[in-house]
Amino acid sequence: MIKVFPNRVTVTSALPYVNGVKHLGNLIGSILPADIFHRFLDLFDVENIYICGTDDHGTAIEIGAAKEGLTPEQYVKKYYDIQRQIYEKWNFDFTHFGQTSAKENHEITQEIFEAAYDNGYVEKESLVIPYCTSCKKFLPDRYTIGTCPACQYDSAKGDQCEKCGKLLDPEELVKPRCTVCNKTTIEFRKENHLFLNFAALQPKLKEWIEGNTHWPDNTRNFALGWIKEGLRPRCITRNLKWGVKVPMKGYEHLVFYVWFDAPIGYISITKAGVKDWKKWWTDSSIYHFLGKDNVPFHTIFWPGTLIAANKKYDLPHHVEGYEYLNWEGDKFSTSRGVGLFSDEALDLFPTDYWRFYLSSILPESKDSNFDWRDFQSRINNELIGNYGNLFYRATLFVEKNFNGVVPEAELGEEEHNLHWKLGKTIHKVEELVKQVKLKEALKEILALASETNKYFQDKKPWKASKEEQAVALYTAVNMLQPLSMLLKPFIPETAGKAIDCLGGKQELSQDFIVEPGQKIKAKLLFKKIEDVDIQKVRRYKTKYMKQDAVDTIEMVNDMMPFEEFAKVEMKVATITKVEDHPKADKLYVLQIDLGKEQRQLVAGLKGIYKKEELEGKQIIVVTNLEPKELRGVKSHGMLLAADDGTILSPSKAVENGMKIR
Ligand code: MF3
Ligand code: ZN
Repeated sequence: MIKVFPNRVTVTSALPYVNGVKHLGNLIGSILPADIFHRFLDLFDVENIYICGTDDHGTAIEIGAAKEGLTPEQYVKKYYDIQRQIYEKWNFDFTHFGQTSAKENHEITQEIFEAAYDNGYVEKESLVIPYCTSCKKFLPDRYTIGTCPACQYDSAKGDQCEKCGKLLDPEELVKPRCTVCNKTTIEFRKENHLFLNFAALQPKLKEWIEGNTHWPDNTRNFALGWIKEGLRPRCITRNLKWGVKVPMKGYEHLVFYVWFDAPIGYISITKAGVKDWKKWWTDSSIYHFLGKDNVPFHTIFWPGTLIAANKKYDLPHHVEGYEYLNWEGDKFSTSRGVGLFSDEALDLFPTDYWRFYLSSILPESKDSNFDWRDFQSRINNELIGNYGNLFYRATLFVEKNFNGVVPEAELGEEEHNLHWKLGKTIHKVEELVKQVKLKEALKEILALASETNKYFQDKKPWKASKEEQAVALYTAVNMLQPLSMLLKPFIPETAGKAIDCLGGKQELSQDFIVEPGQKIKAKLLFKKIEDVDIQKVRRYKTKYMKQDAVDTIEMVNDMMPFEEFAKVEMKVATITKVEDHPKADKLYVLQIDLGKEQRQLVAGLKGIYKKEELEGKQIIVVTNLEPKELRGVKSHGMLLAADDGTILSPSKAVENGMKIR
């Protein structure tokens, strides 16, 4: 099948919630690949824009603002600015980075709603909403959790089960509980709300999805699966202050559900920031980039909204859903301090190192894993060893032996061969980009860099005749120019500098376009990552860790020198049995369950905790210490407690054996 690029492309990445700084797992599944794709479209001369911005509404934002003592407006402004500044440092090339709280979004959301209403797709119904009688509050969807009716996962959120992906209403949860107070004091109370009638939209959605034969199979089947299950009307209003007001009599106290106005943000952000905005939404192919949990919203909910409104806006053409990134074999977790955030990463290594490495592990069809050693070896071997060194050696040679001027050369068979491979690679990369296979595109480019390296190595210009030198250098320089152009979507800053050094031709051609006589400059593009650098960053703990986890670590930190601390292993365990120590009156002998093993600990908790208080409690244990005998009883580990004897526990129940660090 021959694929062609559409004439015009609107690229979007999922709009990050405005609350707080995003971690690398967020970026790798949306903003980064969308940016690379957009840059490739530029490179292949496809007319396109790249739209992103913050998703400003929803309960989490209302609550976040209250926590910081700010109004939602102040809070949104603060974090919008913070996020925008970080993305500038990542060199994300947005055509516009807007906000869903902007006036354009209020207007278009209300227009779309009114159109959907006029077309008969909006229904009025009274809704039963979870109300926590302990907190005396209506609870937003995500603040009610319970067992998923589909997969039995016991901590499904009220709007979606994170385990099986099913979209839910809080009422469907089995044994619902309030996440604010953790009690099951939930009552369902009645209130009038508005629904978008997905049951009525189902036939049109089905036809549209079936027609999308160009979608990746998994995305299409996933969407058809939901349809097959049968779509139901979904509530699009919420009882909150912050959000887009519902423009209808009797419902003015409500705002739209955040997932109703957020995707409309793609359109309104375009309106706010791009001249001639309409053509990007009425005559363009829309490419959405997002994490896999966002797929149902972009294949069903959002196109359903557009079909209901029938305002002739373009429906999604391509929905690219990414899997998750793990962090050194573990899940990203703020509370346990696992992972790294988008601003911190750039304090540790240059932007292009991150862009390069994350691109090379894009979770395209399965979850991928961040690993510091792998990071080091890919940067050193592939980015620097393969591309950076060749660049430096070739340009330095020209500077030293040819006064910095590209020499004239007569090309032989090997050179023609390399030139042919260049043409082939450009073609292949273009094909891969059409299929949004960006990780593979990067591999192709690196393979060509290897070929070029090998060629240069074989030519041994350092001991060749002047004529042979000229051929090797002319060829190397003319391979480095297109290689840099091809790498530029991944590493824009460095590749940009490289191209400048080679004379500044911002053009990708299958021909050798750096002409003899061109003045060029040598440059060391990268600095190798040393083992000590990795040792250092490994110790770095994200500053966005929740406070209880920070306290735990700091306490241990105080107890022993840093080098020792670095070796400490801590795990979560549950106390299964408590007995008195036969000889000491302040000590208990505890049996603990570490998931895969049972152990005995001796701890000075008598007088502080009663036995019943300890049994069943989760604790944090240092597990890799030498066993110690305490008055004749062996203790295999040490539990963490504060100075006053208070035991440190995980802030919520987790699996026994889970590593804290
Ligand atoms: N804010 C959502 C998230 O981070 C994504 C919104 S995407 C959009 O999961 F379509 F609504 F814009
Ligand atoms: Zn409550």
